[in-house]
Amino acid sequence: MLNSKSSLRKTASVVRGSDVVATKKDWTGNNKSAFVCIGASNHTNGERETLDYYATEPKALELLLDLERFDKSIWECACGELHLSNVLERRGYNVRSSDIVDRLHNGKIETLDFLQYDGKWNGDIITNPPYSIATEFAQKALDVIQDGHRVAMFLKLTFLETYKRRVLFDKYPPKVIYVSTHRLQCAKNGEFKKYKSGTGTAIAYGWYIWEKGNTEPPVVRWFN
Ligand SMILES: C[S@@+](CC[C@H](N)C(=O)[O-])C[C@H]1O[C@@H](n2cnc3c(N)ncnc32)[C@H](O)[C@@H]1O
Repeated sequence: MLNSKSSLRKTASVVRGSDVVATKKDWTGNNKSAFVCIGASNHTNGERETLDYYATEPKALELLLDLERFDKSIWECACGELHLSNVLERRGYNVRSSDIVDRLHNGKIETLDFLQYDGKWNGDIITNPPYSIATEFAQKALDVIQDGHRVAMFLKLTFLETYKRRVLFDKYPPKVIYVSTHRLQCAKNGEFKKYKSGTGTAIAYGWYIWEKGNTEPPVVRWFN
């Protein structure tokens, strides 16, 4: 069980895994931490869409699927407006798409709070989760799949930081981390057009791939 958000922000002093003593406070942002990019404000509340809805540039998944094979059954458990689900369907996967809110009302999205889900899933999970609760999403995804199955999450490279995530990585080391050589975009509210002619993005992303049962340290690769 992961610690609560408030307690994780306190100074940690715990020995884990390879005897690393975490004594530093996790960085939680400051009033100069807003990076202007495709409408995303990296660590401030002001600009952030309430449910953390930032759609993923579909190319990010196209490139991953050129490199990795997944189970035929995939669950996109925070599917937004189906940007990733549509790529998966085009590639022939059987896709379950759910989100806490149905933005499309086209009968394709199951309304479901993934963190409250208490069943199992016989397949793999691929998503870009709401970043503010991405650790909890990764933990939950790994809890619901079976050994040998995989979770792929599109996340900021800074997801590697913080004590909170260290606890997750100690329990579930990712198998591969694909760092994007060139910047890929996530667009607030799915408004890619609005930001196309903009200034690009200040956020570096990658794909984090877990295989349940893996205990080896992650391999870092590059794509894009
Ligand atoms: C960063 S967006 C990504 C959307 C989509 N996966 C994509 O890549 O285009 C995160 C999504 O998580 C959804 N979400 C937030 N909290 C959730 C929860 N507890 N359970 C399920 N979905 C949630 C939001 O509504 C939003 O659509």
